[in-house]
Amino acid sequence: MSGTGRVKVGIIGSRFEAEIHAESFKMVPDEAEVVAVASPTPGNAEAFAKRFGIPRFFTDYRQMLVEKDIELVTIAAPNALHAQMTVDIAKAGKHVLCEKPLCMTLEEADWMIDTCKQQGVLLMYAEELFFTPKYVRAKQMADEGAFGKIYLVKQSEKHFGPHGDWFWDVERSGGGVMMDMGCHGIAFCYWFLDRVPIKSVYCHLATHVHADKTKGDDDALCILEFEDGATGVIEDSWARRGGMHDRAEIYGEGGLTVADLHMGNALPTFSEYGYGYAVEKAPTTKGWTYPVYEELWNYGFPQEMRHFARCVRGKETPQATGEDGRVVQEVLYACYQSAGTGAKVQLPFRPKGVKRPIDLWKKI
Ligand SMILES: NC(=O)c1ccc[n+]([C@@H]2O[C@H](COP(=O)([O-])OP(=O)(O)OC[C@H]3O[C@@H](n4cnc5c(N)ncnc54)[C@H](O)[C@@H]3O)[C@@H](O)[C@H]2O)c1
Repeated sequence: MSGTGRVKVGIIGSRFEAEIHAESFKMVPDEAEVVAVASPTPGNAEAFAKRFGIPRFFTDYRQMLVEKDIELVTIAAPNALHAQMTVDIAKAGKHVLCEKPLCMTLEEADWMIDTCKQQGVLLMYAEELFFTPKYVRAKQMADEGAFGKIYLVKQSEKHFGPHGDWFWDVERSGGGVMMDMGCHGIAFCYWFLDRVPIKSVYCHLATHVHADKTKGDDDALCILEFEDGATGVIEDSWARRGGMHDRAEIYGEGGLTVADLHMGNALPTFSEYGYGYAVEKAPTTKGWTYPVYEELWNYGFPQEMRHFARCVRGKETPQATGEDGRVVQEVLYACYQSAGTGAKVQLPFRPKGVKRPIDLWKKI
């Protein structure tokens, strides 16, 4: 499919991440327009379409895939659905933009990548950290040699737990916080170090505060060893109070940089009375808070959507692909295996027949 003009986009999902997709595409109107949305709960897609001025809405995404003019479909649905949706979209001849983590298993990752190749469509992996302005700036400096040889890349994302029920249900999510947010950290370290192969993975997982809600991990510490000798350290939590935390630290023999997505950009604020919204997952706006501004732009979502739309038009080459998602998936397997055995796991690590990554940690 090689159209011209604005890329016509369909979105699957109508809640948290679907809203981010719709808002972000609105911010890049020269490149793309959302023309349809699909979500199964009656009324949800319609309400979403009204909110964002989207002309068509569906309760079954397969009906949306019949629409001839749609060129790119984004998947903002629970993890367990990503693989089948990707294959259905590709078979309908449309490009795929799949949210992270790519899927549940390595077999699914292969199926998604192979099908998209066979169908001649792009499989793009929605890792916005590759587009986050502060992180991109850190990488630019590293690429210019500012820090010399990099020996340590740290990335962490923390809050007090996700907003949707399915995240807590390992059948639909595949795992806990390591799966949900650790996938960002793995992708970030891999991207930052120019996709040098990962040699080994060591990981500790725990469920500290949400055992009543989930069988999954709510706190994760992970060490990646890269083939060039660099180390990646990933820390993620659903147990941290106080709203969203997202931060990277880069250390080289010649220097360092720290990129805190929220604190560096926030307005230290005190309010006796509260106000509308501070930052993602902040529980209150009273007392001391740290409201952000231009939140989507600071995360890189509109930049990401602009890039992917341009890829559909052949103006750019995808910077985040199904193959990146598969590397992350393999490391996720290794994380859960390491946490289960207490041992460092060497890559490649491709055990067959795993149903959910979390099964490598503990039998549920
Ligand atoms: N890139 C990021 O930073 C980021 C942030 C949040 C979520 N995500 C990812 O986005 C995806 C969606 O998460 P979310 O936070 O939007 O969850 P959510 O619970 O807010 O929304 C899930 C959506 O999926 C829809 N859905 C469920 N079953 C469906 C089906 N059979 N067909 C079509 N739609 C279906 C639901 O109706 C709902 O609209 C997940 O894979 C998640 O990991 C990514």
